[in-house]
Amino acid sequence: MSVGNPFVKSSIERSVQDLPALPSVVMRILKETESPTACAVTIERMLSADQALASKVLRVVNSAYYGLSGQVVSLSQAIVILGMQQVRNLVLSVSAYSAIKPRTPRQQETMKIFWLHSFGTAAATQFIAQRKRFSNQDAETAFVGGLLHDIGRLFLFSNFTQTYDQVLRFAEQKQITVESAELRLLGISHGEVGAQMAEYWKLPKPLVRMIGDHEDPTEDNIDPMLYALNIADWITKDLYFDPEKIETTSPSDFVMNWLNFTPEEVDLLKEDTAEKIEEAQQVFGLLAA
Ligand SMILES: [Fe+2]
Ligand SMILES: [Fe+2]
Repeated sequence: MSVGNPFVKSSIERSVQDLPALPSVVMRILKETESPTACAVTIERMLSADQALASKVLRVVNSAYYGLSGQVVSLSQAIVILGMQQVRNLVLSVSAYSAIKPRTPRQQETMKIFWLHSFGTAAATQFIAQRKRFSNQDAETAFVGGLLHDIGRLFLFSNFTQTYDQVLRFAEQKQITVESAELRLLGISHGEVGAQMAEYWKLPKPLVRMIGDHEDPTEDNIDPMLYALNIADWITKDLYFDPEKIETTSPSDFVMNWLNFTPEEVDLLKEDTAEKIEEAQQVFGLLAA
């Protein structure tokens, strides 16, 4: 078995560069929300320019996941209730996932599981952010990191379906993690692919870093957002992989030490996340519509 086939790697990297750009309205909203003088009215005006996107945002905001069922009738209300950052996160995630089109029923099904895994991870990240008293801005970035962290995996699965199936089978046969199998067969991990996508889309730097390093944060550089994501991902991991078949590793000791939760608190985090995932079931249907 060749280690990290350079041809596979470069063809993956090339096809990242062929992705559609994010809609210009998304880029404008991203820019606006980063500015200290960001203004809700401006965001609303920008978002209204893309009605398809605007109506998706409204549908998702009204889902059980956000606990606002049916109460939000306008974009301006959505921005007031959720805040600019949350609306930005939604817009960004909806658009990033729209760049990857499912072509077969199986891909459609995988897409759904990805969404649930992503919403679950985002919710768990948010719970941790609250408990660890992140600043609002860090908590928002962590949340959107949760939504987008596995975008590279979805990309590989959708655009290199057969190759990625081989990766999954290889991991299962050898009882190694999917990440090790990716490195062995593709020469690149899904985290790195995701980071290249995020860079290509000019997403904020902290997001690029979170996506790139979510599977293996390092100890020497304590990074609360990344650690929170790593734990949240582990909590929702069985939503994508069959844990009976595929090896998953729990977060490193230094990450769990940072979290500093009792086993009961970890259980509670799992329960709360499971509840959110239940509610997220609805979101997918709304997005696919
Ligand atoms: Fe991942
Ligand atoms: Fe994940």
